[in-house]
Amino acid sequence: MDLLIQDKVQDESRQGEALILEPVVGKNNGRKLYIESYGCAMNFSDSEIVASILSEKGFETTSDFNNADVIFINTCSIRENAEVRVRNRLKEFAGAKSRNPGMVVGVLGCMAERLKAKFLEEEKLVDVVVGPDAYRDLPNLIEQVDGGQRAVNVLLSREETYADISPVRLNSNGINAFVSIMRGCDNMCSFCVVPFTRGRERSRDAHSVVAECKDLFDKGYREVTLLGQNVDSYKWSAPIAEGGEQLAVGSEVQIVNFANLLEMVALVSPELRVRFSTSHPKDITDEVLETIAKYENICNYIHLPVQSGNSRVLDIMNRTYDREWYMNRIDAIRRLIPDCAISTDVITGFCTETDEEHNDTVTMMDYVKYDFAYMFKYSERPGTLAAKRYADDTPESVKQSRLAQIVAKQQEYSFYRMQARIGKVEKVLIEGFSKKSNNDYCGRSDQNAMVIFPVSENYKPGQYVNVLVERTTSATLIGRIVE
Ligand code: SAH
Ligand code: SF4
Ligand code: F3S
Repeated sequence: MDLLIQDKVQDESRQGEALILEPVVGKNNGRKLYIESYGCAMNFSDSEIVASILSEKGFETTSDFNNADVIFINTCSIRENAEVRVRNRLKEFAGAKSRNPGMVVGVLGCMAERLKAKFLEEEKLVDVVVGPDAYRDLPNLIEQVDGGQRAVNVLLSREETYADISPVRLNSNGINAFVSIMRGCDNMCSFCVVPFTRGRERSRDAHSVVAECKDLFDKGYREVTLLGQNVDSYKWSAPIAEGGEQLAVGSEVQIVNFANLLEMVALVSPELRVRFSTSHPKDITDEVLETIAKYENICNYIHLPVQSGNSRVLDIMNRTYDREWYMNRIDAIRRLIPDCAISTDVITGFCTETDEEHNDTVTMMDYVKYDFAYMFKYSERPGTLAAKRYADDTPESVKQSRLAQIVAKQQEYSFYRMQARIGKVEKVLIEGFSKKSNNDYCGRSDQNAMVIFPVSENYKPGQYVNVLVERTTSATLIGRIVE
């Protein structure tokens, strides 16, 4: 079963990838760096910024941590099991360090921010703890460790967006890239640790976003995914120039909202596909939906986390929308973008959730028939509003059985959505050979479905092809190229 719908996220499904980076010629300092990333796309994108900062200082990377002089693990705190995985991985690094006592082991990312200096007490192996807004300080911190100290920088910033750092694209196929458009989160969903680990929301300079996308396109990339915890609240205004005039962004627009930014990126080239994640039901506007509909190259796919289908549970989750509001947004998507795939995130067994309330989540799934869903059991996170206010009182067995029920339901709907594509022609961006065979290419449809089809000599990865869908598995469309 290759559906990603167990208690496993986009986040954790991509755990533990090692990142390889080319040394900057002429600057090689003879030291090797190994970086491993856990968590959401934002963390993977941050690792590319870290790689860029250290490659400037002459670090070369290795895919084998046993050979490394510096090991960094970029961590996630979203659920307890994400943290448990990191702790286990650190144990595996201990052997390497015992053979090479000069090795530096660093913890980056959300766990570093959550636990701060406490991490150094708890994990004797760790030399340096660095939060998500402090990566520019990494070269200094490594120097401190070289000098025999242990080092911590977990300062959160109201401004840092790393806008001027050109990320080193790691493990890249040269076709798809992540582009961070904002950092942090100002929502206070009661279950969520992100506002504490990532700090206040700030939007990156719209021009630097567009310039990065243009540069990627010029280098042959054909798909960008704009990243933020809540992309719909993106807001950037051009700085005031001397003389008090605001520097114009386009001909008229001076404040850039997410719909404006989408449009600016879409205009880089009709050959550049634009995706984005994550949308928030309270903030996704008709203007955003109309912009998606207007541009063929903005993909018809929206990840719209519902979390729960019950209004009381949504209220204590502090999601600031209710069941009717969410349904209204779904109706708007269906009306304005008729062929739009929708995916979601769901939490089962949140504090005080009753069977009837859980059933509202099930009926929400019936209403939307999501193309895809990431489903989780509620995991209490220290310091969050929910941890302070409400008892984590749904028994583990109940969380588990509710999860199993919605996972089964989602399997039905994923299959239903896949089946509905049979006989249709999908425009696919070829990403490379399929995992299973060099006789097949794989790529994604506009609606984000994975599509597999026989290789044709006329087409190369990075090109678009039309594929007639002939059959499906539960997670993949299978077909052949049609002209
Ligand atoms: N910013 C995004 C989500 C980021 S976290 C948004 O607002 O939708 C990704 C998903 O992890 C969340 O949508 C939620 O479903 C899940 N999640 C977050 N905290 C959790 C917790 N304490 N327990 C279980 N799942 C959680
Ligand atoms: Fe967490 Fe809510 Fe912010 Fe998403 S919007 S990151 S769930 S606080
Ligand atoms: Fe995890 Fe931090 Fe992302 S907690 S989901 S890595 S923002």
